[in-house]
Amino acid sequence: MASANQIKMLVKHFTKKDDNRFLSVVLQIAAHEAKIGHTKFADELRFLVDKAKISMNSESGMPKVLSASSAQMVQPSSDLFSVAHPVVNFNNIVLSDEIKNKLTRFLDENRNSKKIRQFGLVPKRHLMLYGPPGTGKTMSASVVACELHLPLFIVRMDSLMTKYMGETSAKLRSIFDYISQHRGVYLFDEFDTIGSKRSITNDVGEVRRVLNTFLQLLDEHHSDSLIIAATNHKEILDNALYRRFDDVIEYQNPESSDISVLIESKFISFELDIENKEKLIVAADGLSYAEISKSCDDAMKTAIIKDTKNISQETLERIFRERKSYHI
Ligand SMILES: Nc1ncnc2c1ncn2[C@@H]1O[C@H](COP(=O)(O)OP(=O)(O)O)[C@@H](O)[C@H]1O
Ligand SMILES: [Mg+2]
Repeated sequence: MASANQIKMLVKHFTKKDDNRFLSVVLQIAAHEAKIGHTKFADELRFLVDKAKISMNSESGMPKVLSASSAQMVQPSSDLFSVAHPVVNFNNIVLSDEIKNKLTRFLDENRNSKKIRQFGLVPKRHLMLYGPPGTGKTMSASVVACELHLPLFIVRMDSLMTKYMGETSAKLRSIFDYISQHRGVYLFDEFDTIGSKRSITNDVGEVRRVLNTFLQLLDEHHSDSLIIAATNHKEILDNALYRRFDDVIEYQNPESSDISVLIESKFISFELDIENKEKLIVAADGLSYAEISKSCDDAMKTAIIKDTKNISQETLERIFRERKSYHI
């Protein structure tokens, strides 16, 4: 049954004529009912909500932030999200065994979400990815969306963060409303931007409040949408924050074996003339996946310009070394 608080919220949203928030509470009730094994009732509730939404809003398609109560504060959703339908799958990404296992598990739980919920359990839905740039965090979110045939919504952190914290929190709330109503993968990329507010307001307390709003909304999120946060800077993330995610995955620059797999995967329609694999790997060592991938692209483009399919190891090594020289 709905909790007293949920009934109060229903009445509140009903009297304010805030249909979206009203339905969002109904979905929360459905999620709770599913959790305690009342799956038939939960399905019926979800069905009623879907029906109500279709008749309320037939224009859908592009994502919209629908919260009426915060409408004055919230800009059109196209400013808050971009949406994509990625085509990169698990075979296109090179990952360590540990990351591969964690992502496979995440995908498996969500492929079996209905079954898992029937037993009153909840699949993992909230992921935190961290590690240096160019190691495949954003790409992983695309892979998850592609593998689960879900749209990928990328939350624009720059338009989310404004000078006024109250406004930022209101925007966050409307995003979470949207998340509950539209199943998808939601990527909060460059998540540390929430922390960078510090530099504008110089007020650590305010930053903490926005983070707390995010965590509270994450706790209250019960829908089947998936939320992925990614950051290059793990310093801003404290233990309290980590605990709220179902899994925290650390990304790293590629090891020798990963470098080798990545290079091989890049030269499918070209002939890479490898004379000394170890030497080639040493030349690439220290570069990120993204940098190695870009270097391989550069080598291929050079070959295309020269109308050849052959690329020498020397050419590729030179490009790797050149890219490494940008590191200083
Ligand atoms: N693990 C990886 N396997 C294959 N390609 C990768 C990997 N990581 C990065 N790349 C390449 O680099 C590009 C940028 O990576 P991205 O996922 O944006 O890195 P991050 O989000 O960690 O900064 C990707 O689109 C892809 O072409
Ligand atoms: Mg990224």
